[in-house]
Amino acid sequence: MEAFITDWLNLLLRWLHVVAAIAWIGESFYFVMLDNGLKPPKEAEAKQRGVFGEMWSVHGGGFYHSQKYLVSPPKMPEDLHWSKWKSYTTWMSGFALFCVLYLLQPQTYLIDKNVADLAPSTAVGIAVAFLIGGWFAYDGLCRLLGKNERVLGIAVALFVVVCTFATTHIFAGRAAFLIVGAMMATAMSANVFFWIIPGQRKSVDALAKGEVPNPIWGKLGKQRSVHNTYFTLPVVFIMISNHYAFTYSNKYNWLILSIIMLAGAMIRQFFVLRHSGKNLYALPVAGAALLAGVAVFAAPRPAPAPAAAHSEAGATAPAALKLSEIQPILTQRCATCHSAKPTMMGSAPAGVMFDTPDEISQNAQRIYQQAVALKAMPLGNVTQMTDDERQKIAAWFNGGAQK
Ligand code: HEC
Repeated sequence: MEAFITDWLNLLLRWLHVVAAIAWIGESFYFVMLDNGLKPPKEAEAKQRGVFGEMWSVHGGGFYHSQKYLVSPPKMPEDLHWSKWKSYTTWMSGFALFCVLYLLQPQTYLIDKNVADLAPSTAVGIAVAFLIGGWFAYDGLCRLLGKNERVLGIAVALFVVVCTFATTHIFAGRAAFLIVGAMMATAMSANVFFWIIPGQRKSVDALAKGEVPNPIWGKLGKQRSVHNTYFTLPVVFIMISNHYAFTYSNKYNWLILSIIMLAGAMIRQFFVLRHSGKNLYALPVAGAALLAGVAVFAAPRPAPAPAAAHSEAGATAPAALKLSEIQPILTQRCATCHSAKPTMMGSAPAGVMFDTPDEISQNAQRIYQQAVALKAMPLGNVTQMTDDERQKIAAWFNGGAQK
């Protein structure tokens, strides 16, 4: 029952998280596009009013005419739309989801004893420290190097790579990726909470008092907002990466993630420039080349020739095994989760079950892929599957996955 409740909570939080993130990022992409697409106002009257740029667009059966006042409009509008709750909701639902899955079940999701044999409480402590410490470090870099955008950009990118290296050497690959993403996403929401919104509030307050707002508030907020734009694609990749074990279970997963993040930021950069009329096709081409490089790098290598195993292990070389010989392994190591009546999960993850010989032979390819090729399963090797058992599964699969 408890597992079922966790599953439901997981579903509802994830649903909310994705919807809130779509709303937030959708709006944020829209404003980045608008900002870069602004043209100087055509009419003298608009210029006089202090309009810095404008854009006409057609959408949803009507025409829109957006105008941007750089520091502030001449007089305070009566109702002002703020963008903040979408961001806060995304963070809160994401953090709750992170708690329900990773922090409440560290043994299953956070820890991989082959990476580091951590006590559950230590793992939870370090994970939370990454989220909080990541923000302070990033914020510190911005304060320190904020005057030089380029240097700051490189420093932030390096910092993220260092964190990626660190997390992948502390946590299970899947969790390591997620922690890097959660850390960046926390910085994104914290940017909104600590910089963008307070800056806007100061401008609005000044305006309400009839003063001219200090342009520095807008500038600082804008800088954080630009960072958020480049974080977006990397973070979204990480949030879906848990479905792609070939990315996080690779030995060089930190490098794979770093390159994919770089490719994501480059592709985003292309769109940012495109909105201001520049089409720098080299960016997406380079991004795609990086992704192709990762694909080649992470491609499964052919298994070592059985002959080699022969000479080393002599008579115990793996002959083709029958399903009945590997079924007990799956029952012991996998069916605690992958079963119609799992004991470690509310329901069979991904709908994959290994209760009957039919279910096993149907999933032969996936079993081989997850347990042998990627070693992504059992999750965090909670059920302590041995290498010998993995080899037996390989022998069964390579021998034609006989029934
Ligand atoms: C602690 C629970 C747990 C154990 C034990 C476990 N799994 Fe999984 N498995 C999961 C979860 C969770 C997912 C879903 C991952 C995702 O969201 O993509 C999954 C997904 C899968 C998938 C589907 C992946 C895909 O997209 O094709 C396969 C196949 C699989 N596991 C095989 C195995 C095998 C084989 C074993 C035993 C060697 C095993 N699992 C042990 C939790 C477990």
